Amino acid sequence: MKKDTLTIKDNSTGKSIELPVRRGTLGPPVVDITRFYREMGFFTFDPGFLSTASCRSGITYIDGDDGVLLYRGYPIEQLAEKSTFIEVAYLMLYGDLPNAKQMDTFSHLIRTHTMINESLKSFYNGFYHDAHPMAVMVGVFGSLSAFYHDSLDIRDADHRDLAALRMIAKMPTIAAASYKHSVGEPFVYPKNSLGYCGNLLHMMFSVPSEDYEIDPIAERALDLIFILHADHEQNASTSTVRLAGSSSANPFACVSSGITALWGPAHGGANEAVLNMLEEIGDAKNISTYLDKAKDKNDSFRLMGFGHRIYREYDPRAKIIREMCHEVLKKLGNENDPFFELALKLEDVALNDDYFKERSLYPNVDFYSGIIYRVLGIPTNMFTVMFAVARTVGWVAQWMEMISDPDQRIARPRQIYEGAGIRDYVPLDKRNSDT
Ligand code: ACO
Repeated sequence: MKKDTLTIKDNSTGKSIELPVRRGTLGPPVVDITRFYREMGFFTFDPGFLSTASCRSGITYIDGDDGVLLYRGYPIEQLAEKSTFIEVAYLMLYGDLPNAKQMDTFSHLIRTHTMINESLKSFYNGFYHDAHPMAVMVGVFGSLSAFYHDSLDIRDADHRDLAALRMIAKMPTIAAASYKHSVGEPFVYPKNSLGYCGNLLHMMFSVPSEDYEIDPIAERALDLIFILHADHEQNASTSTVRLAGSSSANPFACVSSGITALWGPAHGGANEAVLNMLEEIGDAKNISTYLDKAKDKNDSFRLMGFGHRIYREYDPRAKIIREMCHEVLKKLGNENDPFFELALKLEDVALNDDYFKERSLYPNVDFYSGIIYRVLGIPTNMFTVMFAVARTVGWVAQWMEMISDPDQRIARPRQIYEGAGIRDYVPLDKRNSDT
């Protein structure tokens, strides 16, 4: 049988190499270049990983040309309609949908790991009240490993499972506390009778002096947004988690590095940036001015919430969130939300503009998510924190998968060195005084 290979020839020496081609279940074939440098003496160059598969994975699949997103093979549209965030978390971690008993056990385990150590609470007081909640998240989450050093052996599957549960279960508690600190209200303890998103709303918005009732529409909307944000293949923050994890760093440290990567406006920080942008645009009459700015290469302004490295079609998550905006705003009595109306107009104008059409720039998941967060009463600077809560599931699942991969090695990219060639040290008194 003919072997699946790709032959590469160096025309200057006539030397060639036959490289194996790997095929996944779905997606384009992948050329295995692991022997390339050893046998041919070349590195490959691919800044931003445009054509490089950095790992093998069985968690999430994206077909950016057709706007397809699958979690463990299940289309995102089906999960968004029929599943819950906790069920999706199980699916991500263990590979299949749970049966009723497994779902019960998992949900119970998550509910009973929501508390954080009391000492951790004092960390928040070290931050100024106006600290950005993402800065607080990075610090507080990163410190979790200090509390669990007796169960941090990453080669022990039980320790890994426990760390996974702890991270997913405690994330809403840590996120809500960062919000409470920013508004100067007392921290609210988790209530384990509540569901994952209900508990988060309770910890964010209840105060000891008042009764608080969770709005089921808000709870379901949050759950749905969390499903959509749970994982997205080897994006910047997930790759950061894997890169940190490849050195055998503990999982709390790895996920904390994922939080830092998520914060950037080109990634998860875009949801906050979209709302700030809509506020700046202010009125539909200003749309064309801002589109011109976005198209101007001498202007750093970009249309936030637009464009994606992988999707050359409408982001399927954005489609779902846009529909959800209509529904949530209607149910919460805010159908004519000015931000939503402005976003719809902006999308319409951009999608009919040659610049955006030629570059296949469509709204991504973050274009509409902030509009829902805002209606739920979540402040703009908490948007990326909400994203981090949901994405923790993906980070943890990807970290677990990486640790159990027999091919896993420390990640160590190479470079094209373009600095000075070898030169001799010049003593201070002999250096040119003009430079
Ligand atoms: N506004 C204006 N122009 C854009 C935008 C945008 N939002 N996005 C891409 N472009 C242009 C680029 O200038 C470039 O034009 P050129 O070919 O004339 O040079 C072309 O489209 C291709 O863009 P790249 O930057 O090469 O695409 P890349 O894949 O590197 O970047 C990214 C993708 C970072 C998402 C980019 O589209 C962007 O900055 N979007 C705005 C920020 C955003 O919404 N990020 C959230 C992404 S989703 C997420 O992480 C959850």
